Amino acid sequence: MGKVVQSDHPLIQHKITLLRDKDTEPKKFRALVREVSTLLAYEATLDVPLVDVPVETPLATTTGKEMAERIGLVPILRAGLGMVEGVWDLLPAAEVWHIGLYRDHKTLQPVEYYNKLPSYPTVQLCLIVDPMLATGGSVEATIDILKRWGAKRIKVLSIIAAPEGIARVTSAHPDVDIHVGVIDDHLTPEPIGPDDPPAGYIVPGLGDAGDRQFGTG
Ligand code: PRP
Ligand code: URA
Repeated sequence: MGKVVQSDHPLIQHKITLLRDKDTEPKKFRALVREVSTLLAYEATLDVPLVDVPVETPLATTTGKEMAERIGLVPILRAGLGMVEGVWDLLPAAEVWHIGLYRDHKTLQPVEYYNKLPSYPTVQLCLIVDPMLATGGSVEATIDILKRWGAKRIKVLSIIAAPEGIARVTSAHPDVDIHVGVIDDHLTPEPIGPDDPPAGYIVPGLGDAGDRQFGTG
C-alpha cells in the first residue's frame, strides 16, 4: 500500500512560504523549486535498498553500501522541469525521462504531447516530479503511462498538493507513494464572475508553477 507523506521539515515549510509569495520573482522562484526538490528527494529515497560493495580506503579494504536500484526521474513538462536539477543534486546518475502533458483549460483533463520513453523500463524506481498536484489528472495519467511501460515502483514528488488530487491518485494507484511539501485547502471552483480565478487552481497555492518559473504569466 502506498503512503502519502506530507513533509514537516522546517526548511521545506520556510521555502514554500517564499514560493507562495506573489512578489517572488522567477529567478528566486526557480532556485526555491530546486532547493525544495532536493529536500523532497532526500525524504523520498529513505527506503531505497542497499547492497554491500567492497571499497578501498587509503588505509584498508572494507565493505561499503551502494544503492541497489537504478532511479529514473520523470518530470511532467513544463513545470516539472524545474525540479530535475534539485533531485540531480542528490542523485547525479538518475536517468531523466520527460513526459509532456498540459491541462486542457476547459475540461482540466491532461493532454499528452510528448513521450520518448524507450521500449522497456531501464530503471527500478521512477520518481515523478511536478510541483503542483491539483486535480491529480496529470499525475494519474503519468502513472498510467509508466505502468504501461512496465514500471514497478513509482513515487510522486510534488511541492504543493490539493486534497482532491491526493484522493484521486491514491484511489487510482494505491501502490504509489506520494511525497508532498504541503497539502493545501481546496481547488478553485468554476468561475462565476469575470474577476474569478480559473477552475482547478490550488488554494492558497502559489499560482501557476510553470508561468512563475518561466516568466510567462
Ligand atoms: C500544471 C502542473 C501540473 C498540472 C497539475 O501544469 O505543473 O502538471 O498543472 O494539475 P492537475 O493535477 O489538475 O492535472 P500545466 O498543465 O499548467 O502545464 P505547464 O506545466 O506547461 O504550465
Ligand atoms: N497548476 C498550477 O501550476 N497551479 C495550480 O494551482 C494548479 C495547477
